[in-house]
Amino acid sequence: MQGGAKVEEAADELTLLAERHLVQPWPVSGSIGAEARGRLEGGDGIYVTDAAGRKLIDGPAGMWCVNAGHRRKELAEVMAAQAMELSYNSPWYTTNAPAARLSGRLAGHAPDGLDHVFYTTGGSSAVETALRFMQFANNVKGRGEKKLIVSRQGAYHGSTYLSASLNGRPRDQDWMDGAGEQVVKLSCPNPFRRPDGVAAAEFCDYLVAEFLDVIETVGAERIGAFVAEPVMASGGVIVPPDGYLRRIRELCRQNDILFIADEVVTAFGRLGHVFASQEVFGLDPDMITFAKGVTSGYFPLGGVMIAGRLLEELRRSNHSEAMFAHGLTYSSHPVGCAVALKNLDLLEDGLLEHARSVSGHFQSSLKALEELPLVGEVRGMGLMACVECVADRVSNNPLTLDLEVGKRIDNHCQELGLLVRPLINMCVMSPPLTISTGQIDDMAAILRRGIELTMDDLVREGLWRG
Ligand SMILES: Cc1ncc(COP(=O)(O)O)c(C=O)c1O
Repeated sequence: MQGGAKVEEAADELTLLAERHLVQPWPVSGSIGAEARGRLEGGDGIYVTDAAGRKLIDGPAGMWCVNAGHRRKELAEVMAAQAMELSYNSPWYTTNAPAARLSGRLAGHAPDGLDHVFYTTGGSSAVETALRFMQFANNVKGRGEKKLIVSRQGAYHGSTYLSASLNGRPRDQDWMDGAGEQVVKLSCPNPFRRPDGVAAAEFCDYLVAEFLDVIETVGAERIGAFVAEPVMASGGVIVPPDGYLRRIRELCRQNDILFIADEVVTAFGRLGHVFASQEVFGLDPDMITFAKGVTSGYFPLGGVMIAGRLLEELRRSNHSEAMFAHGLTYSSHPVGCAVALKNLDLLEDGLLEHARSVSGHFQSSLKALEELPLVGEVRGMGLMACVECVADRVSNNPLTLDLEVGKRIDNHCQELGLLVRPLINMCVMSPPLTISTGQIDDMAAILRRGIELTMDDLVREGLWRG
C-alpha cells in the first residue's frame, strides 16, 4: 500500500519535472517548455505501457523506428557488450570494427554502386550530409552555381537548417526561417489530392512535366539535387503514381542532377526490404539517406549511402586541398554500428520475410475502414498506412485544422489500447514489423472503434453532419 503511494508520488514528481524543465519537439509557443506529454514506462514486442499502466499497441512503432519491436534482448546485449569492448573512438583519427563490418553489409544491400557509407546521428544529419556533399562536390568540380535543391510539397526531411528547408508542409515552415532561396518545390505526388481537372492516369505525366519545366526555367546548370522520400511518410504516407520516381530519376540523369532517395522511413524493412529504392521502385539513386530502423530505434544512428563513382570523381580531381569539412563526433559510433549489425541479422533472418508476408493483411484490414463515412481514403504500402479523414466525400475537404480529428481518434484509441500517430486530419500507422496477423486485427478493430467514437463526438458537438 505504502509502496504504491510512493510509486504514485514519484510519477507525479516526474510529470512536474518534465513540465518544468523539458522542452519537447514541435511544441506550440503557447505551451513551449511547460508541457507534460503522456509518459511511457515500458515496452515489449509491439506493445508499450504508459504511466497509468495501460498496455497499448505501438501503432507508429515509436516514430517509424522500432522495427524489430521493443525489449529485444539480443539488441540490448550487443549494445552492452560493445560498450564494454570499445565505447567510443574518434572517427576523425580512427575507425572501429562494427563500423567497418556494417559498411560492408549495407553496401551489399544497397543498389549497385552505392558502396560507401557516411554515418550520422539520425535522419536530419543524414539529409544534411547528403546535401553538403552535393555542394562540396560541385564546388570541387568548379560548378559553384549548380546547387539548387528540388524538393516536394508535403515532404519531411528533418529539423536541421538545410534539411528543414526542404520540408513542404505549411505547418513546418510558417514560423521558422530556412534556406528557402536554395530550394525549389514541386507538387506533392498525392493522387488523392491531385489538381482539379487532372485525371488519375495523367497525373504522373503532369508531375514529370512540372519537373521538366523547372529544369528548363531554372536551368540544369543551377540544380544540384532532387530529394525525395520514395513513399512520403510524415506528409501522410503518399504513394506516388507508378513510374513517377523512375521517370524523375531519368530526368535527373539526363541533366546531371543528383537523385537523393530519403529512405529514413522506408528502409530497414518498412517496405519489406533493407532498402526499398531498387527492390520496390526499380530506382538507382546517387545517394540514399537512412536512420530510424537501422537500429530499430535502440541507438541514434543514421547515414548516407554514396555512389563510389561520386567519390572516385572527387579523388580524380586535382584539388588535393579541397576538404569535405563535415563530420560528427558520433559518426560511425561503435555502439550504434554494433546494434545495427545485430538488427540487420534479425531482418535478414526472417523479419523482412515476415514483414512482406503480413503487409497484405495489414493494408486490407485498414482499407476496410473506408466504409466509415468520416474516412476519405486509406492508402499505404508495406507496413505503413494512412487513414485520411474528410469532412465530406464529394469535395474531399479535410476536416479543418482546429478540429484536429487525428488527435481525437488517438485519444479514443489510447483508451482502447492503441497508440496512433495523429497528423491533423490523418492517422498514420506503421507498427513494429514483428506484428502478427492477429495483432493487426486487434489494431484495426481498435482504430475502427476510435473513429466511430470520434464520429459520434463530432455529430454531438455539431461539428459534422455525418
Ligand atoms: C523521411 C525523413 N527524413 C528525415 C527525417 C529526420 O530524421 P531525424 O528525426 O532522425 O533527424 C525524418 C523523420 O521523421 C523522416 O521521416
